[in-house]
Amino acid sequence: MLVDSYDRVVDYIRVSVTERCNFRCNYCMPEKPFSWVPKENLLTFEELFEFLRVAIDEGVKKIRITGGEPLLREDLDKFIKMIYDYKPDIDLAMTTNAFLLKGAAQKLKDAGLKRINVSIDSLKPEVAQKIAQKDVLQNVLDGVDEALKVGLKVKVNMVPMKGINSDEILDLLEYCKDRNMTIRFIEYMENKHAQEDIQGLKSPELLSIIKEKYSFEDEGFDGHSPSHYYKLEDGYEFGIIEPYEDDFCKKCNRIRLTAEGHLIPCLYFDEAMSIAEFVKRGDIKGAALVLKEVVKNKPEKNRWGGEDDEVSTRAFYETGG
Ligand code: GTP
Ligand code: 5AD
Ligand code: SF4
Repeated sequence: MLVDSYDRVVDYIRVSVTERCNFRCNYCMPEKPFSWVPKENLLTFEELFEFLRVAIDEGVKKIRITGGEPLLREDLDKFIKMIYDYKPDIDLAMTTNAFLLKGAAQKLKDAGLKRINVSIDSLKPEVAQKIAQKDVLQNVLDGVDEALKVGLKVKVNMVPMKGINSDEILDLLEYCKDRNMTIRFIEYMENKHAQEDIQGLKSPELLSIIKEKYSFEDEGFDGHSPSHYYKLEDGYEFGIIEPYEDDFCKKCNRIRLTAEGHLIPCLYFDEAMSIAEFVKRGDIKGAALVLKEVVKNKPEKNRWGGEDDEVSTRAFYETGG
């Protein structure tokens, strides 16, 4: 079992298979093209899997494939199948922008993927385009429909921003409710890559908008998920991800692996250790030692909202969100 120095059990790894993305979301990436990690620096799926095997043997029970946009990497279904075949009962999920999902959903499901989380920030084509810097909405909605059709469980993430999409909170909630998908509203986390001065809505503002139309009960946190859940009278649940709240980190159970093989102990922090050289030379014991070291060094909490709060230097596309 992997336990950190604050007695938190780490049993969840988020694996970013590429930091490249076909969107340029205003809260995540700079608008202008910039240089990506060269492809030759990326670990192969076999190498990533070698490491995941070590992690699974050490007690990891949940693996989420992330990016950038994971569907940009070819043969992703084969990678998913490697993991599934090794441990079929693992909670195997992916976070995607869904642009390429329509053509991929069935293959992913057949390979063993169980659930996906999709970002939808607006149901208005022009607003979605303004946020992602691309005409994305129809592909995304078609991708979600297909995922539901093939039997993948779907959650939706929305980042509400003042003056941009904050008038769509109820529309998105209802879009999800009608399809029996959980929606989580994410408080915008400041980072140096954002394209403009974004004002994210905080939890009390979101709740007061929802309260205008619905009554709900506070359900608290669900296991180790970063989301605070609420239940409407008809039983539908929605969530709010509040990284600025202290409680957020107390139950954190995750670390991150980048496509280059960097193991990152916290979304906010820069410190990373590389497992690349170990998996490349098949040194499983060495990879396991690095994994334990990173878990041991997991910080107590992120710094959003803290006394030494500063703008995080890593963007979500680099760390895998
Ligand atoms: P579930 O397994 O469905 O609960 O997924 P998840 O919430 O772990 O995954 P998802 O990729 O949908 O992540 C949603 C968002 O939660 C992330 O993009 C971040 O905004 C936030 N989040 C997840 N992990 C962390 C973390 O360790 N620290 C912080 N600050 N935010 C996190
Ligand atoms: N603040 C909050 N959420 C973010 N995401 C990406 N960047 C940020 C940010 N700065 C969200 C995306 C996606 C999830 C993985 O992270 O919308 O749903
Ligand atoms: Fe791409 Fe996700 Fe970042 Fe948007 S938030 S640019 S979809 S990695």
